[in-house]
Amino acid sequence: MSGLLTVEGGAPLQGEITVRGAKNFVSKAMVASLLGEEPSELRNVPEIRDVEVVSDLLRLHGVTVERDPEAGVIALDPSNVESAHVADIDAYAGSSRIPILFCGPLLHRLGEAFIPDLGGCRIGDRPIDYHLDILRKFGAVVDKRVQGIHITAPRGLTGTKIHLPYPSVGATEQTLLTAVRASGLTELSNAAIEPEITDLIAVLQKMGAIISVDTDRTIRIEGVDRLTGFRHTALSDRIEAGSWASAALATRGDIFVRGASQQDMMTFLNTFRKVGGAFDVRDDGIRFWHPGGDLSSIVLETDVHPGFMTDWQQPLVVALTQATGLSIVHETVYENRFGFTDALRGMGATIQIYRECLGGLECRFGQRNFYHSAVVSGPTPLKAAEIEVPDLRGGFSHLIAALTAEGTSRVRGIDIINRGYENFMDKLEALGARVTAGERKVAAA
Ligand code: EPU
Repeated sequence: MSGLLTVEGGAPLQGEITVRGAKNFVSKAMVASLLGEEPSELRNVPEIRDVEVVSDLLRLHGVTVERDPEAGVIALDPSNVESAHVADIDAYAGSSRIPILFCGPLLHRLGEAFIPDLGGCRIGDRPIDYHLDILRKFGAVVDKRVQGIHITAPRGLTGTKIHLPYPSVGATEQTLLTAVRASGLTELSNAAIEPEITDLIAVLQKMGAIISVDTDRTIRIEGVDRLTGFRHTALSDRIEAGSWASAALATRGDIFVRGASQQDMMTFLNTFRKVGGAFDVRDDGIRFWHPGGDLSSIVLETDVHPGFMTDWQQPLVVALTQATGLSIVHETVYENRFGFTDALRGMGATIQIYRECLGGLECRFGQRNFYHSAVVSGPTPLKAAEIEVPDLRGGFSHLIAALTAEGTSRVRGIDIINRGYENFMDKLEALGARVTAGERKVAAA
């Protein structure tokens, strides 16, 4: 697919699309398969770039990975796990943040792990200090080298007590994937409790792990000697569902998102309703639409689960440019997630960003010079523009903005959107979008 998309905006998105398994769960469940001594099978797997990257990394470590993309099934056989060549792993430097989660399983299986420079979206510093501290607490030895980080466990891994400075999703997963086969008990306090983590715990329990979750964000893990494989159907991607819902709102459209789940989207649905969006929860998905009339401005703060996800923020901000009045958005998860608003301003949106914590409590980024609050004044008609996609969610937001704007926009660098949005070109076509990728005319309204 070309990295350039020509978008003729101004028409509502209407129709039905399907959302499959969550990007931020599927990759972790694939890594979990490394811990088992038997094959595993994961279903409802989307065809996205992150799944390809993790499949390749698993293959480098001797795992047999068989994919049936259409059926959404991946079979993983970790019987012959082996050390990969550093140069081979290094070829994946910068492609994903998942390699850091290979550490615990590889230390259990092979006694060593190597981590290249990590990738992921540029939405803040995205350090890995929590991960390395956790591994050290389990008894691992971390050796930072020029090419990357080499980690060993000369005396094995032993359960421990960990308190996270912040309920980090990745650090919680790191703890789970390491503790399940460490000797003895592990207690993790201030853990993240996102639905994707609950589903990872379900997978680990199927494999034979003993894990309990308290209401106060404390997770206790009793290490076991061996784990089996698992068969599991991934929970659906609530970020993708929320992104299409925001696209329906911004373009005054009507989209049925097959596979969207109310349970995991309650906070989003409350906000969507407050802005003025309509939705109807059905057994097989959720219909989202713009009911006509004006949208309302809101005060919004992103937060860890059960708060409003940071990944929903960028698509929703595009819809907020169409709401009447001043909306205030306080981003408390990442310090630098408003870069995408530059392009929206270029398209006619009125958005100011501030260093102060606006509209809510002080967060970790207050008084630290991070532009992490935004004030959106609307409604402002958006006009077509030349746009360069900055990151995954920001990129999808630019796409929504281009679809909302009157006129023809050119969006460059759209390949990045494949990292997390399955077949998004086909979905745009199904929704009647007037878009052209490279020379291919996808649909005409
Ligand atoms: N943090 C640290 N040190 C660490 C780890 C995290 O300071 O060692 C900080 C981060 O800089 C950030 C905060 O803790 O400010 C939260 O980060 P978290 O560890 O929760 O994020 P993550 O595990 O790296 C996952 C998703 C993100 C999603 C966040 C929050 C994956 C592969 N990525 O990232 O998804 O935004 O949780 O829910 O699961 C996306 O899908 O576009 C995306 C960025």
